[in-house]
Amino acid sequence: MKPLNDTKGTAPVVALDALADGALLEVEAVVDGDAESLILHRDGEAVRAWYNVCPHAGRRLDWAPGEFLRSKDGLVVCAAHGASFELGAGECVAGPCRGESLRAVPVEVRDGAVWLA
Ligand code: FES
Repeated sequence: MKPLNDTKGTAPVVALDALADGALLEVEAVVDGDAESLILHRDGEAVRAWYNVCPHAGRRLDWAPGEFLRSKDGLVVCAAHGASFELGAGECVAGPCRGESLRAVPVEVRDGAVWLA
């Protein structure tokens, strides 16, 4: 998804309605002046975000842009070597980087949209 925000964060990353409850969404956003791929996860009215970078070998987690593998119990699974991450703290709970975590990006929900915090 193309970035909606600018370097000063004066536009939202994405409308909240674009993210179904429980879903993952890949977006591109400018963070600290650099275009980054982010993973957004909606949990009710809350949204968490992480860089789309696996702590194991630095690869993107999606197998195609915006297409994520999910386990039966809702973990997101890195398409490269199968590391599995829970979607609370983004911790790897199985696989080659067990115990490490995705790098969080602070976001907030306001005015019906997700913003970089
Ligand atoms: S890069 Fe994700 S498991 Fe290896």
